[in-house]
Amino acid sequence: MSLHQQVIKTFEARFGELPRLVVRAPGRVNLIGEHTDYNDGFALPMAIDRGVWIALTPTQTNEVVVHSLDFDETARFSLAHLKFAGHHWPEYLKGVAWALQQQGATLSGWQGVMAGDVPAGAGLSSSAALELATARAFAAVSNRPWNAKGMAKIGQRAENEWLGLNTGIMDQLISAAGVAGHALLIDCRSLETQPVPLPVETAVVVLDTKSRRGLVDSAYNERRAQCEAAARFFDVPALRDVSFAQFQAQAHQLDNITRRRARHIITENQRTLQAAEAMQQGDAAEFGRLMNDSHASLRDDFEVTNQALDAIVTCSHQIEGCYGARMTGGGFGGCAVALVRHEAVETFTTAVARCYQSATGLEPAIYVCAATNGAEVVSQN
Ligand code: GLA
Repeated sequence: MSLHQQVIKTFEARFGELPRLVVRAPGRVNLIGEHTDYNDGFALPMAIDRGVWIALTPTQTNEVVVHSLDFDETARFSLAHLKFAGHHWPEYLKGVAWALQQQGATLSGWQGVMAGDVPAGAGLSSSAALELATARAFAAVSNRPWNAKGMAKIGQRAENEWLGLNTGIMDQLISAAGVAGHALLIDCRSLETQPVPLPVETAVVVLDTKSRRGLVDSAYNERRAQCEAAARFFDVPALRDVSFAQFQAQAHQLDNITRRRARHIITENQRTLQAAEAMQQGDAAEFGRLMNDSHASLRDDFEVTNQALDAIVTCSHQIEGCYGARMTGGGFGGCAVALVRHEAVETFTTAVARCYQSATGLEPAIYVCAATNGAEVVSQN
């Protein structure tokens, strides 16, 4: 049974009637443009066919009651007294309600059932999917128009200010504004998005290394601080504003670490724009080459890969039919992404799993992903 059907069926069993509507928001895989979002740069993610579904009915009360099939827990909170209660899944819903209220919204309560299939902690934005599904639910029951960019900012505010995680806008924006069959070139300064069609006869293969590392938040914040220090050195608002020529002319004055961090961001922005161009031309080979360069830069200059990510990417590079592969998301573990010739997908997945397992002893999870729409109401009664 699909998750869509499961949330409807459980809703009916718990509340004795069919839900008024079902909303869904996707996770994402970033094809290229990593750690560029908080540098006002460019990213090229796509929304994937894995996400969070919520079946719900408005209740004309001030309360939200939601049952999570994944946690087998029911959360209940009052929209009149939102209070942080420690890091757990209901905080993502509360944080979104709080951010909407901060913006002046009057929200209606609802009861619902939710379920998701984005693996947690894998770098596929299960949190953004939950935030945007929640935002979609509140917008629907409170009769608010759906504005994808505005709602992405609401999700980011929930994450930054309610949950205290200092992340950029990419995950929420792609979950809000994804376009089926396309990746989205995002200008993380203007928040302009441009759908770019995936090259024909290729498949996007997500490779979960199953490695997870703790202390990711502090390493992420450290990278942000290093990028901000580099921007101050160049006397610009963000590294987005530094050209490669300017970098080359002045980089020798920077310390080794700051220089390498800045070089990653500046070259990654260039690669992302080139990759979008290659995609427009249907040039999968060029796109793959840029993915490979991106991985090397994340490994050597930005230093956010780990042994598992490097191993699975090295394996991918050796397999026939793979145009390119790189780590995806925040890094330090989680997933890589490969662009693979469509007819070679099956042999690729078998070969990469075997190679990775013999290199690390770990068994990867492999998802061949389709590009889907962003947050939407999927059915209504
Ligand atoms: C995480 C953050 C994003 C982005 C990526 C790295 O996914 O949530 O905002 O910074 O890392 O590209």
